[in-house]
Amino acid sequence: MMRNAILFPALFFVVCATSAHAKPAVDQPQLPATYVPSGKQMFKDYCAACHGADGKGRGPVTYSLKIPAPDLTTLAKRHEGKFPTDYVSSILRFGPGFSAHGSADMPTWGALFQYLDKYNQAAVQKRIKNLCDYLASLQEK
Ligand code: HEC
Repeated sequence: MMRNAILFPALFFVVCATSAHAKPAVDQPQLPATYVPSGKQMFKDYCAACHGADGKGRGPVTYSLKIPAPDLTTLAKRHEGKFPTDYVSSILRFGPGFSAHGSADMPTWGALFQYLDKYNQAAVQKRIKNLCDYLASLQEK
């Protein structure tokens, strides 16, 4: 409990601090052209702390979690050799909580992206797509 109370505000701060760079230079009144970082950049900023810089699940934070962050380079291997885009998108959007082994340790990125992208659905979708494309590129053969 205590650990989450510390980790989540800290994580939120990191994400907000990072997004400060991402703000468009000019604040347009409607439909701002929301800047969406590359999958590689977002992975480094948002995921590597737990899943490791190489995606293999050995990030510095993972040791304090109840369930260690899984190896994300074996997703294809574990899903009949095909990168499970729908599965990963849905985890990013809604969190892994719906699965039988769901935990509260994996943040629900959808809600955070909604906030960062000011509820611009196209931008939220692009973030998730960029992350999926990047993860697909990390898959073990
Ligand atoms: C605070 C630590 C933490 C961070 C940060 C984090 N994850 Fe996770 N992630 C986990 C944990 C723990 C699980 C396992 C959850 C479970 O099984 O209930 C997980 C599970 C997953 C899964 C399912 C893996 C599988 O083998 O089925 C994917 C995909 C995933 N994370 C992607 C990401 C991405 C992409 C990011 C960055 C946007 C991210 N995670 C950031 C801790 C984290």
